Amino acid sequence: MSASAQDQNPEQFDFVVVANRLPVDRVVNDDGEASWKRSPGGLVTALAPVMTAADGAWVGWHGAPDETVEPFEHDGIQIVPVELSEREVNHYYEGFSNSTLWPLYHDVIVTPEYHRAWWDSYRRVNQRFADATAAVAAEGATVWVQDYQLQLVPKMLRAARPDLRIGFFNHIPFPPVEIFAQLPWRHRVLEGLLGADLIGFQRASDASNFMGAVRRILGFTIRGQQVHVQDEEGKLTHISRAEAHPISIDAQAVAKMANDPKVQARAKEIRRGLGNPDVVLLGVDRLDYTKGIGHRLKAFDELLEDGRLEVGGAALVQVASPSRERVEKYKELRDEIELTVGRINGQHDTMSHTAVRYLHHSYPFEEMVALYLASDVMLITALRDGMNLVAKEFVAAHVDSRGALILSEFAGAADQLKHALLVNPHDIDALKERIIEAVRMPTTEAQRRMRIMRRQISTNDVNRWSRRFLKSLSADPAESAHRTENRTTGAGDRDQEPDSAPEPDSVHQEH
Ligand code: G6P
Repeated sequence: MSASAQDQNPEQFDFVVVANRLPVDRVVNDDGEASWKRSPGGLVTALAPVMTAADGAWVGWHGAPDETVEPFEHDGIQIVPVELSEREVNHYYEGFSNSTLWPLYHDVIVTPEYHRAWWDSYRRVNQRFADATAAVAAEGATVWVQDYQLQLVPKMLRAARPDLRIGFFNHIPFPPVEIFAQLPWRHRVLEGLLGADLIGFQRASDASNFMGAVRRILGFTIRGQQVHVQDEEGKLTHISRAEAHPISIDAQAVAKMANDPKVQARAKEIRRGLGNPDVVLLGVDRLDYTKGIGHRLKAFDELLEDGRLEVGGAALVQVASPSRERVEKYKELRDEIELTVGRINGQHDTMSHTAVRYLHHSYPFEEMVALYLASDVMLITALRDGMNLVAKEFVAAHVDSRGALILSEFAGAADQLKHALLVNPHDIDALKERIIEAVRMPTTEAQRRMRIMRRQISTNDVNRWSRRFLKSLSADPAESAHRTENRTTGAGDRDQEPDSAPEPDSVHQEH
């Protein structure tokens, strides 16, 4: 903590991250003693050094309902737990966040549910997060709010603490206005987000969808990437900006792990365990309906059926990590996927080989890197995905530049990984052709593509992502309006030029 903050209040911090989940998980040892361990994942890795250097506090839910956990320090980060009741877990988290917003923002792959009781809970919980943040943020602190679970926090925080610099990052897609407009509380959500000085999105198209919604639904004036935010009387209150900031991974850590002889030995062992097939295809996803796992299984099944792939020669490993298991649609998806896998294996397995090795588990990072190394073809067939960091991890792990990446054009990663084999996963014939192309790709061509992608990822790693976002957040809006170079989403990366924002038009403002 800085001396200045400490003098005023020992509990306040110059940099605060607010996210639904804390960056630590509770682990219980064999003697039943509980302790906290840093969570795996890009966001925590990216922000840990920033937090340590800048007096960081992290506000988030600790994962267990109806339990108060006192603030504590972990690895130089002040942890500020927010409590949720069982009913709030049900209404705010499983309900509004994961059965309303999640499907709505992922192009209504399943039908979103709109319930007023869920919305009330979402509002109340967002207010609790905002209050907890306002209490720990030092005068003039920078606050970075994360993701769709907390879209109302920026406005609530600005109302309580106009001195703060507020950033928001949306990790998932932002849908076109025609879809977003279904949301009965669309005004409140847009206004909530516009409480931030800077709103970050994964893709340029997400930022322009958001701008489109602000213009059409709120009728606010938009200039380039800036929104002129007005109060109820139409008076300008502040300027908010929307930009694309594609998230990435700790590429160095992945490559270091992949170079570890123990991990390389484990990769060989995994391949042996599969009966040393000629080609190992891999899928790694949270078990979520946005990931297109069924589409991938269908394509693989048909290739076996057509005799273009053969069990023994080819094996598909599908890791589906358990996710949101109390939500109905996730239960249904699990049944559906497991039925399909059972059917494919029943049909195609031999005494010595299995067609699909299905694993409903999460694995430690080390094992995942070994699995990437053991595989030849990675299948990312998301029907809609904010980014998909697995795609980037697969590329970063292939330090030998071997392997091929099949990547859905509907995943944010497709904006950066243009040398992947891009595919529309709804087009099963195209997906099948892509798989065959990947399997047969000459080594030199595969290596050429992988090298270009590896360079992209090691240059644009997760540290750069957080640095660029925070730099843009700290810039004055008037000044940033004149900075033409910052109109690109990745400094010097022309691939990520955002679509030009729509011109303001006069649309009736609903309330
Ligand atoms: C996505 C979301 C995150 C979320 C994660 C896991 O990546 O963008 O906000 O934390 O899924 O989902 P869960 O519901 O388990 O937090």
